[in-house]
Amino acid sequence: MCGITGYIGYRNAYPIIIKGLQRLEYRGYDSAGILLYNDNEDALISKTKGKVSDLEELMNSGISKEGNIGFGHTRWATHGVPNDVNSHPHTSNSGNLVIIHNGIIENYDSIKKELTKRGYTFKSDTDTEVLINLIEEVKKTNNCKLGKAIQIALNEVIGAYAITVFDKEKPDELVVARLGSPIAIGIGKENKEFFIASDASPFIEYTKNAIYLEDGEMAIIRKDKEIEIRKINDDSIITPEIQQLKMNLEQIEKGGYDHFMLKEIYEQPHAITDTYRGRLIANKGIIRMAGIDDNMEKFLNADRIIIVACGTSWHAGLVAEYLFEDLARIPVEVEYASEFRYRNPIINDNDVVIAISQSGETADTLAAIKLAKEKGAFVFGICNVVGSSIAREAHAGAYTHAGPEIGVASTKAFTTQITLLSLIALKLGKKKGNLSNAKYHNYLQELELIPKKVESLLAIDEKVKHIASVYKDATNCLYLGRGFNFPVALEGALKLKEISYIHAEGYPAAEMKHGPIALIDENMPIFVIATNKGHYEKVVSNIQEIKARKGKIIAIVTEGDTTVKEIADHIIEIPDTEEAFTPLLTTIPFQLLSYHIAVMLNRNVDQPRNLAKAVTVE
Ligand code: M6R
Repeated sequence: MCGITGYIGYRNAYPIIIKGLQRLEYRGYDSAGILLYNDNEDALISKTKGKVSDLEELMNSGISKEGNIGFGHTRWATHGVPNDVNSHPHTSNSGNLVIIHNGIIENYDSIKKELTKRGYTFKSDTDTEVLINLIEEVKKTNNCKLGKAIQIALNEVIGAYAITVFDKEKPDELVVARLGSPIAIGIGKENKEFFIASDASPFIEYTKNAIYLEDGEMAIIRKDKEIEIRKINDDSIITPEIQQLKMNLEQIEKGGYDHFMLKEIYEQPHAITDTYRGRLIANKGIIRMAGIDDNMEKFLNADRIIIVACGTSWHAGLVAEYLFEDLARIPVEVEYASEFRYRNPIINDNDVVIAISQSGETADTLAAIKLAKEKGAFVFGICNVVGSSIAREAHAGAYTHAGPEIGVASTKAFTTQITLLSLIALKLGKKKGNLSNAKYHNYLQELELIPKKVESLLAIDEKVKHIASVYKDATNCLYLGRGFNFPVALEGALKLKEISYIHAEGYPAAEMKHGPIALIDENMPIFVIATNKGHYEKVVSNIQEIKARKGKIIAIVTEGDTTVKEIADHIIEIPDTEEAFTPLLTTIPFQLLSYHIAVMLNRNVDQPRNLAKAVTVE
């Protein structure tokens, strides 16, 4: 949940680290810090509560920015409130060892007590300061090198980590290690420089060659030398696989938009096309997906599909439940990964588990698939981030190819996940003989048209902005939908909550009368999805029930609708499509609405309070 980045080489490290931290700020943004080592001036640590911009301001107040070794951290607090002292880097008692850390050391308390008995003192409330002192103690008692001390110490630790450690006694070396939190190492020309980061975005303009450390691996990185990678729990040396990065700089910049979230909303026509590119050949009736084709028997023989995910990805999983059951007639259960992993679930050999995750790093989802694998299930991963932990842990999988999503609020991740899940459901539905040729072809052609329909739908932005201005001061909102669009109601409410901080609830429209209807009065905006297929008449009745209680109705309808127009206070029209694909369209106005309300309320759209993009702690 924190971002870490580092540099060792011949360039000035400061601009690389500070720019890297800005790119990683989506991972955490309650404090930031940096270490710079300069042969002449020793190792300088600067850190502060606040954002990377606050760190920059601090650095501009006369602090030396010299040095070609260093690292930086942007924090999402776990142990200890966000303040200057709890900010990373943390230093050992001797002052020699310095660490940045992403993750949680679960047994930090017992280690701290033991170290305290041995005379160690602690300035901060963090688990990280405990870890660096444990490393120091091990180094001292074993009289060993830093790498060995880290290895021994990490074997005493329970939890998750990605760490980078610097030793003033050996200043031409950085040691990194990972378990449960990601680390990428960028390799510069002729091993003359190395970059370290939680993802590759900080070094993409310097090198396209990267090594992703696997869980349980550590690397010793020295100036002008080959990287040495070894296992943490034994001494085996690993030959690293160097990956060629496909990401480019443009993808991780705002490109003229005020916020990443808005850019990502507008990228959806492209992103959806990229998801089905090479997979969907509509005019030939072909859906080609290696991960599914190679494991077709597993899917066809599945007693049920269990989907595990969190947040928005869980909402995409709920849409998939409707898709798989309707199109492929396979029973589906959708589980919050955080619940699934701890409730001793019944999993059989014939179950297929699908894990959905934009980042591919969500700790609960990762733990859920590890459990499912242990119990014998076949695990299929749907991720956006290439090479991510979930992508690597799954038996097989498919990438959404949405491109980097940087805004904390998921937008294009959601629509591309649904696109991919639609392809899978259609492929299985056809293979199982549940879809006639005509129906199947119609679905394929309709899916191919979705990007154009999203494109035309984005033209409603001004209208949505107006609606946002009317309801921006609401304190509570209700989102209603039925069938395929019930999960969209949940997603709409989540989007509003997370970036505007307005309380919102999503409900299946018919459930309203079992409780939430009591909330309705003339101050309550209710966003209802009332598209022309599925349960249209039923939703119209629900809208009448709201009207009778003077609630404000903002309805999403299909182009040309006249019935709801008569009753609603505002309508937003979406192009007609197959019911199964309506979530790909109905979600767009909700994304825009939350965006505009958040901007009008002066919220930090891309980095909402208390949140982080990749939740790598449980
Ligand atoms: O990376 P993942 O898809 O696994 O992330 C899951 C959730 O943390 C994520 O969807 C979160 O709910 C977003 N902030 C929603 O906009």
